[in-house]
Amino acid sequence: MKIGLSTGGGDCPGLNSVIRAIVRYATGKLGHEVIGIEDSFTGLMERPYRVRSMSLKDVSGILNRGGTILGTTNAGNPFKVAGGAPTKEVTAKARLVQEAYQDLGLDCMIVIGGDGTQGIAYQFSQMGLNMIGIPKTIDNDLAEADITVGFETAVEVASDAILRLQSTAESHDRIMVLEVMGRHAGHIALHSGMASGAHVILLPEIPFTYEAISRKLEERRQLGMNYSVIVVAEGAMEKGAEPTFQTSVSGRRNLGGVGHVVAERLFQLTGNDTRITVLGHIQRGGQPCPFDRVLGTLYGVKAVDLALSRDFGKVVVMRQHRMDAIPYSTVANRFREVDKNDMYLRAAEAIGVCLGR
Ligand code: F6P
Repeated sequence: MKIGLSTGGGDCPGLNSVIRAIVRYATGKLGHEVIGIEDSFTGLMERPYRVRSMSLKDVSGILNRGGTILGTTNAGNPFKVAGGAPTKEVTAKARLVQEAYQDLGLDCMIVIGGDGTQGIAYQFSQMGLNMIGIPKTIDNDLAEADITVGFETAVEVASDAILRLQSTAESHDRIMVLEVMGRHAGHIALHSGMASGAHVILLPEIPFTYEAISRKLEERRQLGMNYSVIVVAEGAMEKGAEPTFQTSVSGRRNLGGVGHVVAERLFQLTGNDTRITVLGHIQRGGQPCPFDRVLGTLYGVKAVDLALSRDFGKVVVMRQHRMDAIPYSTVANRFREVDKNDMYLRAAEAIGVCLGR
């Protein structure tokens, strides 16, 4: 077989472990060819194509390397016409990808990506290209998958940051606000906050009130604890308000800035010395934790198994500690928020963490 392989969307720690597993299994063990495609679908849209045949040597020593050796982009949607929104139509760029796929003689493509990339792969599979998806994102928000590659490492990074903020917060009797990633899903904030004893955790799924947060801070003061650590997901918002956005230096409008909003308001309300930390892309970079390296290997092997049995048009998911595969149609254009009955939410509130409500 000739298997195309790409990484799309924002990078995350653990992508190289998936690539390594696919090449070692498909090529090293079974003698099939893996064609690495650079920068997601962009490598197939350009002429000449940006592709390379992957050898065992290419994947040697990459297991614990951050990022992706294939490169990635979150700005190369072939179904997006310049200046417009993504379309359901078959665009000229989508035709270029289809032409390259056929010309290279690919039997299928394994696409490692988050919801956006998997949505694109689904459109290609509807055009007749054989697609297999592997979920990755630090946000852990892919529908139907219990856990995505990259999430655990991001939680580790954020947990470490919270622990560091705890000690300096305590020394200075300060409120420390930490803004973490996660867009519209609060998994990183919830898990890292729980792991490192944050006193307040604010999630996009639970609009917060300043009354609830102030109550918690006061309760701690009454107990003689004059400092608090607040973790806020970038997509969190006050009840009745909109999420906070900021414009990047390149002019893109991104979620972000809510940490400043929360800190300013709490300072006004309490007069307590307050500091803000925005963790940003540190959560996405660097060495994947052991769990992500193992998870990446499981995802890679399962995807090759699907390719070998020509079971295309599916996304590999880990559910209840088992590797499974589900049709693109059930995951496309959906994402997984923190459920209101989530056991982590319940446990956090049970031990007195304030979720802003
Ligand atoms: O989806 C992953 C993610 O890291 C989000 O948590 C974050 O909002 C976004 O990507 C940042 O994207 P960019 O790298 O384009 O700034």
